[in-house]
Amino acid sequence: MNKIYYNMLFKRKSFHMFKEVIPLTDFELNEISTQLTKLHPLISDINVKFKIVKKEETNCKRGEYCILIYSEIKESYLQNVGYLVEQLDLWLAYKDIGVCWYGLGKVKDQKCDGLDYVIMLAIGKTLPKYFRKDYTKARRKHAIDIYVGESINNIENIVRYAPSACNSQPWFIEYENDTITLYRIVGKKSIMPQNKMCYINRIDIGIMQCFIEVFLNYHNINFDRKLYYDTINTHEQALDIEDKIRNAKYNIKKD
Ligand SMILES: Cc1cc2nc3c(=O)[nH]c(=O)nc-3n(C[C@H](O)[C@H](O)[C@H](O)COP(=O)(O)O)c2cc1C
Repeated sequence: MNKIYYNMLFKRKSFHMFKEVIPLTDFELNEISTQLTKLHPLISDINVKFKIVKKEETNCKRGEYCILIYSEIKESYLQNVGYLVEQLDLWLAYKDIGVCWYGLGKVKDQKCDGLDYVIMLAIGKTLPKYFRKDYTKARRKHAIDIYVGESINNIENIVRYAPSACNSQPWFIEYENDTITLYRIVGKKSIMPQNKMCYINRIDIGIMQCFIEVFLNYHNINFDRKLYYDTINTHEQALDIEDKIRNAKYNIKKD
């Protein structure tokens, strides 16, 4: 599965518009439901639920269905959602099902089995030709702006293509003493209120963790992961720590 995920890092893209949507069959919907049970969480004791609904049950105008994500609210639950759902984004690309993460989505039910609504993915099956053909053409920050340290198999030039809300790319990666440290950057300016941006950027960090781990696994690089609880919600709170909040560390195991 990791090889499939790796290849999909380059094929996936956000479908802001869907062309030639092919209705999903019951078989395909069942396959998606099964896949939802196979995703690996970042934090195993956070309860997460998914609901697949017709897009008309939400304010989303894209695709055919929306996958609604509900979670228990616990430490790092947003990173956990990003990490889990990015695996789904990659798997859906493999199945020629286009995706758009939809942070602006609104749903009728804010709760599902006691869990809180977090975010949705709009999905629709389409033709392979509509997926990304040349990932290097995607608009992203330069590697030198998001990565410092010796390169590991060119990791910085792959993981920087991870998707993020408003393409904000709120990450910084440092590699030193066999350790990759992933930071969340608290941006100064944004069209969104800062607490909303921090909320959604934590999901982005989980997405980046998925990209980093898919990359390391693909290259048979073993690692230990350590998570840090990120509680900063405004730029002012972040000033003392130079706007960079440590979210995770990967200790590379060399044998
Ligand atoms: C957490 C998250 C929320 C997003 N929310 C929206 C959204 O509300 N509307 C939208 O059009 N795109 C949304 N996007 C898609 C991003 O704009 C997109 O990922 C980014 O521009 C990079 O482009 P790419 O996904 O095609 O590589 C979201 C992406 C993420 C990761």
